[in-house]
Amino acid sequence: MTEVERRKSATPAPTSWDYAPAPESREVVTLRERYDHYVGGEWLAPSETYTTISPSSEESLAEIGQASPEEVGLAVAAARDAFANGWSALPGAERAKYLFRIARILQERAREFAVLESLNGGKPIKESRDVDLPLAAAHFFYYAGWADKLEYAFPNRRPKPVGVAGQIIPWNFPLLMLAWKIAPALACGNTVVLKPAETTPLSALLFCDVVRQAELPPGVVNIVTGDGRTGAALVTHDDVDKIAFTGSTEVGKAIQRELAGSGKRLTLELGGKAANVIFDDAALDQAVEGIVNGIYFNQGHVCCAGSRLLVQESIYEQLIGKLKRRLSTLRVGDPLDKNTDVGAINSKLQLEKIEELVAAGKEEGAEIYQPPCTLPEKGYWFAPTVFTNVAQSYRIAQEEIFGPVLSVLTFRTPDEAVEKANNTMYGLSAGVWTEKGSRILWMAERLRAGVVWANTYNRFDPASPFGGYRESGFGREGGRHGLEPYLKFDE
Ligand code: NAI
Ligand code: MG
Repeated sequence: MTEVERRKSATPAPTSWDYAPAPESREVVTLRERYDHYVGGEWLAPSETYTTISPSSEESLAEIGQASPEEVGLAVAAARDAFANGWSALPGAERAKYLFRIARILQERAREFAVLESLNGGKPIKESRDVDLPLAAAHFFYYAGWADKLEYAFPNRRPKPVGVAGQIIPWNFPLLMLAWKIAPALACGNTVVLKPAETTPLSALLFCDVVRQAELPPGVVNIVTGDGRTGAALVTHDDVDKIAFTGSTEVGKAIQRELAGSGKRLTLELGGKAANVIFDDAALDQAVEGIVNGIYFNQGHVCCAGSRLLVQESIYEQLIGKLKRRLSTLRVGDPLDKNTDVGAINSKLQLEKIEELVAAGKEEGAEIYQPPCTLPEKGYWFAPTVFTNVAQSYRIAQEEIFGPVLSVLTFRTPDEAVEKANNTMYGLSAGVWTEKGSRILWMAERLRAGVVWANTYNRFDPASPFGGYRESGFGREGGRHGLEPYLKFDE
């Protein structure tokens, strides 16, 4: 038999390399029919409820409380009581024990939380499992370490807790944003009333169970659910000493107006329209991975997303070719499938906002590219999208889309890159890709953004402060800087 004949009889090479379904089991999560508010260590029945759904299937998951101003008032009173009667006077080392406990319980229950987060928010399980949960636990570990070292963090300034903190968080990283808010507040000796976003309340409500397991004194952490009305009631409550808000610039501005002159402390972490700048000497394949991670991670529902790609003209064709090829390999679909790269859009409202801005991009003359992909019939979905031929004045180059949509612009010189990158009302983050260390430093000095990543993107560490300026807000979360908004000083 000749070589050729022998080959013919062998099993043919596969022609398709599709992934088989690999769904994570939902069994690890037990949903209740109705969730109450968590106030003073007890469940408080709400006077009004709404239904929370899974955005990938539109399936109803549970009934959730819509907290009235009176219910918010009970939560603030419980937080005040816990602050005045024990928590604020506890030695830092004792507070640290609770935070370490919470961190360990989050690690132990990580799979349950990851599945719940993907179910309620639509993000791929790969991300909730490998990013949201490890980082949330890391924040508690990190701030547990500061609790008994505040005197060293702020030498000779006699740091003291501020009091009751009202914390309002968004839906893109529900548990992680909870950790960013609660860990530093508790480490500094404050008590909190936290309001999760209306579309993603479930992980915060499961967190109440962690609080109980850790035997945290009642009233130190209170969770009230509901929409913007509940948030507004928390902001305007007289007995709240500090507001920490993450969300839209529009609501952030309204809160700032509301609090002006009240003496209440405020930190705002708002939107962004980050530039991801690729120089012609960059390692292009790595840059493509960074671009994809920058804008398609978490369906682009990321305040620091690299939503404006600035490419040096000489490598434009080559880079766009590579990017389009990479996009065709992204798997869009079931958030609970372990192979999914891009999950569901968080809500119908957010999907409509993305669709509106994408329509505006086409209308204004940008060229759209979407890789072929079949989107599920039920639920809220949007294909990964790239716009080329984008002018700086287009809405898709100016406004935060908060979806898997990238706008590509070009530049010739480093000066032009800086000018275009800074041509935004925001200032949260930026990315720089180049082989030259000196150019990284040159760019970092000039980019007006709170975080500048070099040859990487969307990297987070609890030890590193995060936050913006201009319309991206003010105040820092993470690191030693993240303690300061929760402390007052004898000065
Ligand atoms: P949003 O700012 O309305 O919601 C964020 C949080 O604020 C939620 O918990 C919400 O219930 C609460 N809230 C709403 N109105 C309030 C008020 N008057 N007083 C106090 N709290 C209030 O954001 P939304 O409507 O969900 O998204 C709109 C756009 O905002 C998105 O398309 C995106 O561009 C941006 N956004 C930015 C985020 C970020 O991480 N920086 C997070 C979420 C949204
Ligand atoms: Mg809103």
